[in-house]
Amino acid sequence: MGLKFMFSIAFLLCLSSVSSTSHYFTSMFSLGDSYIDTGNFVIMATPVVPVWNDKLPYGMTFFGHPTGRMSDGRVIIDFIAEEFGLPYLPASLANSSSVSQGVNFAVGGAPATGIDYFEKNNIVPFKLLNNSLDVQLGWFEELKPTICNTTTKEANGFKNCFGKTLFIVGEFGVNDYNFMWMAGKPKQEVESYVPQVVKKITMGVERLINEGAVYVVIPGNPPTGCAPALLTSRMSPNKTDYDNLGCLCPINNVAKHHNTMLRAALGVLKGKYPHAKIIIADFYKPIIRVLQNPSHFGFAGEGILKACCGTGGAYNWNASAICAMPGVVACKDPSAAVSWDGVHYTEAINHHIAKGWLYGPYADPPILAAIRN
Ligand SMILES: *[C@@H]1O[C@H](CO)[C@@H](O)[C@H](O)[C@H]1NC(C)=O
Ligand SMILES: *[C@@H]1O[C@H](CO)[C@@H](O)[C@H](O)[C@H]1NC(C)=O
Ligand SMILES: *[C@@H]1O[C@H](CO)[C@@H](O)[C@H](O)[C@H]1NC(C)=O
Ligand SMILES: *[C@@H]1O[C@H](CO)[C@@H](O)[C@H](O)[C@H]1NC(C)=O
Ligand SMILES: *[C@@H]1O[C@H](CO)[C@@H](O)[C@H](O)[C@H]1NC(C)=O
Repeated sequence: MGLKFMFSIAFLLCLSSVSSTSHYFTSMFSLGDSYIDTGNFVIMATPVVPVWNDKLPYGMTFFGHPTGRMSDGRVIIDFIAEEFGLPYLPASLANSSSVSQGVNFAVGGAPATGIDYFEKNNIVPFKLLNNSLDVQLGWFEELKPTICNTTTKEANGFKNCFGKTLFIVGEFGVNDYNFMWMAGKPKQEVESYVPQVVKKITMGVERLINEGAVYVVIPGNPPTGCAPALLTSRMSPNKTDYDNLGCLCPINNVAKHHNTMLRAALGVLKGKYPHAKIIIADFYKPIIRVLQNPSHFGFAGEGILKACCGTGGAYNWNASAICAMPGVVACKDPSAAVSWDGVHYTEAINHHIAKGWLYGPYADPPILAAIRN
């Protein structure tokens, strides 16, 4: 009885401390690629290449119509916005008139490094969009005078106008590496590119801190070696290339190497800018944990490495018949699947990741812990 009472008190205290921080941020700005894009790719790519994520079944689970998000519903930053009572971030290229609570600069296909390297070395057989991290930072700086002026500085008590702004930088790096994996490059060559990618991301974060950013979330790379698109295009006859989950070791090892280097580089930045709240978000473990024990998290055990929306082959993915192309439909229950379209995740996974970044254990520190001290 007494113990039960204590538990309820503790529970209530937890709840009240959560609600007192729930509207902490007054705005949120994000940079990144297709994992968190909320419409920029459709605007940028439509005049240049055929686009499929502007059609159903994209958006089938949430919104009920396509929004440019590469998922069946919400992406990670949508759940973070909900947590803080902020609106879903409009895509920056949509020229929304209301940007004071934030916009999203992330674009599908965006690499951390410049696009020149990939084009000059003929690594990609198509025209790349000019949307790298540096370009997105340029878009942010262009918009800055409208979001950070005397009015907003006064509203924030004459302090830095980004004191109560949450910045999300990434994930970045997946496209840099995927361009090389898809071009058939060997592991050594892809891995040799990691220091350059990490340096670009770290420089980008530093640039934002110098612009006044205080709270910055930097996600690492997910286990792309478990993605149906790479499992299909880099299929190996050599059993030793696969781990016990059936994922491709060389690809996951590069992702892990990237994450280790990124964590070290951001550690240096934490020392250099002690006032900044640098939050390192883990994009890798939350997905691996689900793949290791799908039913524990409410996912289907059967075919967990298959894309929900796709067709054919061992992983329900085919480069010439991707999700939303004529005849390519979604699985019955996207909430039980990990991969939505072979590259991107389902809303269910995005929600699981967002919770892990907000409350822990998948961020150092969890976002809600960073605003309490
Ligand atoms: C946004 O504004 C720019 C510059 O004025 C313009 O070129 C572009 O077409 C606009 N985009 C949309 C989606 O309206
Ligand atoms: C990409 O855009 C940036 C800034 O908008 C510009 O300086 C650069 O020249 C562009 N690069 C290419 C390859 O078009
Ligand atoms: C200053 O910022 C506020 C809030 O974002 C905005 O409404 C206003 O138009 C801005 N003023 C100028 C002069 O840009
Ligand atoms: C399989 O991969 C392992 C580890 O990379 C390598 O040592 C071995 O030679 C490969 N075997 C074949 C048949 O390619
Ligand atoms: C992939 O899809 C294309 C177009 O529908 C089809 O012609 C091809 O046979 C498929 N490939 C595989 C391996 O299933």
